[in-house]
Amino acid sequence: MEHVRLDSDGLTLVFALEADGAKHGAADCIYLGARLPEGEDLAALAQASARGRHENQPDVPPVPGLWPQQGDGWQGTPAIRIRRLTGEAIAADVRLTSWEHEGSELTCRFADARAGLHMSTHWAVEDGGAIICQSEGWNESGEAIVLEHLASLNLPIPRRFSEFTAFSGRWAGEMQETRQAIDPNGFTRRSAGGKPGFGGGNWLLLHSGDEVLGAHLVWSGDHDVRITCDTAGSADGRAMLQMGAALTDGGAIIAPGGAFGGQPVVLALGPDRSALAEVFHRHIREQVLPARADWGPRKVHLNSWEALGFNLTEPALIALAEDAASLGVERFVLDDGWFGRRRDDTSSLGDWLVSPDVFPQGLAPLIDHVHALGMDFGLWVEPEMVSPDSDLYRTHPDWCLHLEGRDRPTMRGQLALDLARPEVVDHLFAALDALLREYRIAYLKWDHNRDLFPSAAGQTEGFYALLDRLRAAHPHVEIESCSSGGGRIDYGVLARTHRVWPSDNNDAIERLRIIPAWSQFLPLEVLGSHVGPSPNPITGRRLTMDFRAKVALFGHMGVEADPAQMSEDERATLTAHIALYKAWREVLHQGALWRLSHPDPSVTGMMVTHGDKALALVAQTAFSPVFDAAPVRLAGLEPQARYRVTLPEPWPPKVRHYLANPEGWRTGLILSGAALMTQGLALPLTHPETAWLIALERLPQ
Ligand code: GLA
Repeated sequence: MEHVRLDSDGLTLVFALEADGAKHGAADCIYLGARLPEGEDLAALAQASARGRHENQPDVPPVPGLWPQQGDGWQGTPAIRIRRLTGEAIAADVRLTSWEHEGSELTCRFADARAGLHMSTHWAVEDGGAIICQSEGWNESGEAIVLEHLASLNLPIPRRFSEFTAFSGRWAGEMQETRQAIDPNGFTRRSAGGKPGFGGGNWLLLHSGDEVLGAHLVWSGDHDVRITCDTAGSADGRAMLQMGAALTDGGAIIAPGGAFGGQPVVLALGPDRSALAEVFHRHIREQVLPARADWGPRKVHLNSWEALGFNLTEPALIALAEDAASLGVERFVLDDGWFGRRRDDTSSLGDWLVSPDVFPQGLAPLIDHVHALGMDFGLWVEPEMVSPDSDLYRTHPDWCLHLEGRDRPTMRGQLALDLARPEVVDHLFAALDALLREYRIAYLKWDHNRDLFPSAAGQTEGFYALLDRLRAAHPHVEIESCSSGGGRIDYGVLARTHRVWPSDNNDAIERLRIIPAWSQFLPLEVLGSHVGPSPNPITGRRLTMDFRAKVALFGHMGVEADPAQMSEDERATLTAHIALYKAWREVLHQGALWRLSHPDPSVTGMMVTHGDKALALVAQTAFSPVFDAAPVRLAGLEPQARYRVTLPEPWPPKVRHYLANPEGWRTGLILSGAALMTQGLALPLTHPETAWLIALERLPQ
């Protein structure tokens, strides 16, 4: 048995490897935690956690480790399930054959010589602390096989993790957290809609007393995520975390010589959820987001959807653009309804030609006007879909996902194109490329409003290929991934886009849950965050502009409402907050995000520190049970440093008169980081729907 360790600054992984070829060949992860000292005796570490054989166990107790399989007596879900084309199951007997270790990377090679399967699992630890694990395989059997299941990550969970947080959700209610024990019931979360879905089953948190381990499957298709407990004691008592792509019904046929798998899983470890977010954010900022360094400031958007819906006319759009510019908006986004005969959601997806009814001279007059107002122009598209009532469908009825001779059930009146067909990807590329060539378009809102059924092998690969090709041809066009809101959010899509639409729900109270949930894994600069109308069209809730605008500041800010429907006062408040966003976006979009805790569960707090500046948002959503809400304790500051603390105006009208010394909050209180983090600030957080911004500036020593 040999031992290999991978380290980052704060973390160590230790593997126990035994490459006895056909005879035994096991690989295990025996340590995942805080960085171990140099020279730690890894054999002693292995011995300290080794278990002797107990009653009711095979004579050679199985080591499920990094490649769990049932043939040795382990009873959980195997890493791989395959069968012959005839349907006969192949009992895989996969053994570790060799490994390569270089620096902070380890590649383990496994094989099942009899079944002709070759597999590899690659582990890498990044400087920033993120761990990447990725498994792939090759069919060397000489005959086609059917792959039913492959977990890209198989991680025996260190026993100190006893609880986990899973996410679930629905349209307009993404990423709802539930925390539960890792218990004999285990956990399975599988999606089948061809995308990660609103429920965020591709994200998971594991908790020990003082640590959080986060896990994410990097894949924009379906996921299969499991925690299997070893309750029967068939192995060593550790539960197994398994994450991989969920395959379509019936599995995937892998031709002789064909490769499969390869979806990465990203793991991160931190002492708390803020520290965990920092590891994920660093990973995505440095490794995932395309050329983020060249992005420039995230422009304030105005999107036409909540303002005009399908009621598009050139004069109405020009008026909206003028209003947008007067608020300080920097990008005008024309949403659905600009193409074909699409005057509602029943037609024309697939016909990506500007509607002559709405725009008799094409989009140029509108785009020119938008540019003359000092803004750039963005456009909504939904390329992967087709309306049955469209020229594309009439010409190519076989291009959509369908079962021959069966009904073609629609969703939102539409069908999905089969992106596994190269001619479909070619056609979509040509249509989008033509638009981007003809018009000065800085940004595409790329939507996806239908689940994929019947199931669709190769769809995600086709989607990636289309995006990659388009980005190569138009590297300066920014792209947002939207799927009826947050239905397709993962690091795979973000490697090819610039931001995501976290939810169709712009209600600020809902956003105070949705943004902190997504920002556990994603930094604020990729989370579209718009000021919606009041009443909100989805929840019906009325909220003040002050509250809506303050909440929208923590993200990539935009407006998705009609300024013409706002009062003078509301427009002034919105303008002031857009100016605040511009002043603070460098901090918000480059800094470290801290989750603030407060004894009142109806108070949400977030804070970003960057260099010598910090900005916090604290928001109350209920009527406080006490007159004087507990002070807000800040986070992420240097205890010994001194900070000037101000409350940026405008202040929430409902409660501003409760401030004891308004002038002091304007000129600034000088307090140490220790005082701010221990005692905090007594702010009026008594009334529902009030929010405060807190600005900090570290003073020279
Ligand atoms: C989806 C999106 C919305 C909007 C509409 C347009 O629902 O999530 O933001 O673009 O489509 O049809």
